[in-house]
Amino acid sequence: MNSALFSKSHTNNVELGKNGRYRTNVWNYPGVNSFGRHRQDLKMHPTVKPVEMLYDAILDVTKRGDLVLDSFLGSGSSLIAAEKAHRICYGIECEMLYIDTTIRRFQNIFKIDAVREKDGKTYNQLLEELKSGDTHD
Ligand SMILES: C[S@@+](CC[C@H](N)C(=O)[O-])C[C@H]1O[C@@H](n2cnc3c(N)ncnc32)[C@H](O)[C@@H]1O
Repeated sequence: MNSALFSKSHTNNVELGKNGRYRTNVWNYPGVNSFGRHRQDLKMHPTVKPVEMLYDAILDVTKRGDLVLDSFLGSGSSLIAAEKAHRICYGIECEMLYIDTTIRRFQNIFKIDAVREKDGKTYNQLLEELKSGDTHD
């Protein structure tokens, strides 16, 4: 094991409740299930997590502007939580349907266009191109 990797102390913003958040091993948040007020969210992804829970977790262990990595992005809950918390999120997701879900969800909430880095085209432009059959890549 490379001890240099673990030598830096980690960020802990909870500080035993000093900042308004107290942590135990059990976290209580309204779950996304077929009975609750968030049941519509299950249409996006079968295991969608509550944004509030991820938002608090991000506040616990990162500072404003820090990077958040979610390598199993699903419907993008952590991307949304990171944006709300003014963090930068890098996400990986292998299912095209969930990538679309994430982008649409993010655009709807923040009213920001998703942009493809390599050519600056927006997601909506790319959708239009796809619809008209005018796709070069
Ligand atoms: C448990 S779900 C994540 C749900 C997410 N936290 C949310 O709130 O929507 C795991 C996700 O990881 C994706 N996944 C599984 N294997 C993967 C891989 N090798 N690379 C990228 N994504 C992967 C799945 O498609 C699935 O959407």
